[in-house]
Amino acid sequence: MGAAMFDHLDSLPPDAIIAMMQQAQADGRAHKVDLGVGVYKDATGAVPIMRAVKAAEQRILAEEKTKSYVGTTGRAGFRDHVLDLVLGADHPACASGRLASSQAAGGSGALRIGAQLAFSATPNATVWVSTPTWANHVPLIGSTGLRLKSYPYYNRQTLGVDYEDMLAHLDAHAEAGDLVLLHGCCHNPTGADLSPQQWDRLVPFLNDRGLVHFIDLAYLGLGRGLDEDRYGLRLAARDCPELIFTVSASKNFGLYKERVGLLGVLCKTPEQAGVVQSQLGAIQRTLISMPPDHGAQIVERILGDGELKRDWLDELAEMRERMRGLRRMLSDALDVQGGEHIARAVTDQNGMFSMLPVTPQQAERLRDDHAIYMTDSGRINIAGANAGNIPRVAEALLDVLS
Ligand code: LMR
Repeated sequence: MGAAMFDHLDSLPPDAIIAMMQQAQADGRAHKVDLGVGVYKDATGAVPIMRAVKAAEQRILAEEKTKSYVGTTGRAGFRDHVLDLVLGADHPACASGRLASSQAAGGSGALRIGAQLAFSATPNATVWVSTPTWANHVPLIGSTGLRLKSYPYYNRQTLGVDYEDMLAHLDAHAEAGDLVLLHGCCHNPTGADLSPQQWDRLVPFLNDRGLVHFIDLAYLGLGRGLDEDRYGLRLAARDCPELIFTVSASKNFGLYKERVGLLGVLCKTPEQAGVVQSQLGAIQRTLISMPPDHGAQIVERILGDGELKRDWLDELAEMRERMRGLRRMLSDALDVQGGEHIARAVTDQNGMFSMLPVTPQQAERLRDDHAIYMTDSGRINIAGANAGNIPRVAEALLDVLS
């Protein structure tokens, strides 16, 4: 009898976002507009390589002497620079000795290591995620064995955050030791962020209940600005005894396929940080052994060089401003009778995404009849539009919504 190992496997549906990315790429209609996958596009529709990234790569090519292993938690220089970037070099946590960290294979790799750490420490904890959240949060975190549950977040009628419902739900259902996954800025998939005042109330609210902040910061600098976008993380790192956070360099450095991310863990004491640091290395070793280096080296060079860093920040601001400009244009075009609340939400929301009140059937009509791609949930990536096609996008939206 021959082997039959795969006889019982079922074929799985493709990931919805990735499948749509491929569907949009294969669409031959010249007027197609791809508002699907979360990658930044410039006015020509290209996913650009940032200037500072190219410059750093050239230096790496000229100067790199070895391709030897980097170690299980990656480059110390990368970790220090990224921690300074996301917390601010003057943040008390940076000099406290209470931080453990690991380089990771993208923000996703960081989420997986962070979740594994949480599972090792508290296997019975629940991770609370927003409704909705990034679709991949659930399998990524759930694959560790941690249980996930949802809290109310986005209101598809008002297109804003149901903040009081969120707090009431967590108050009623979350238990001390549970984790609450929060999007640091540019909420994916809705674009609806917590205001500074809402963070101010949320952090002590969670602390008082013994709930652990788990902050995913994947879009730093692409929302309102560097300081605005890291407000919640800085506050949590100031006031929480313990905190897990993940950072992605996919979007703000445009390093998607290089897989660059960081996991940060704030612990009660430097001794505990040492323990956690050893755990992070051991977890990464069991998952992928060691993180990929090229992208992390690019980030380290940019953040460690005054001139490259300035240029990177300038280009990041250009990207942010382009998206804000597109939001204003789309908002103006939607600001007609019946579209006013969508128009307002589009400018209130941050980052690449907005979630429009489009049904899966309407999203399909937009794809089939108008060659406009967005996820079935109604999420649009505003960076996929441009000044030329926004009037058509608005018209098609108002058409399917009417
Ligand atoms: C997205 O949400 O579109 C991106 O983060 C890409 C992905 O991997 O889903």
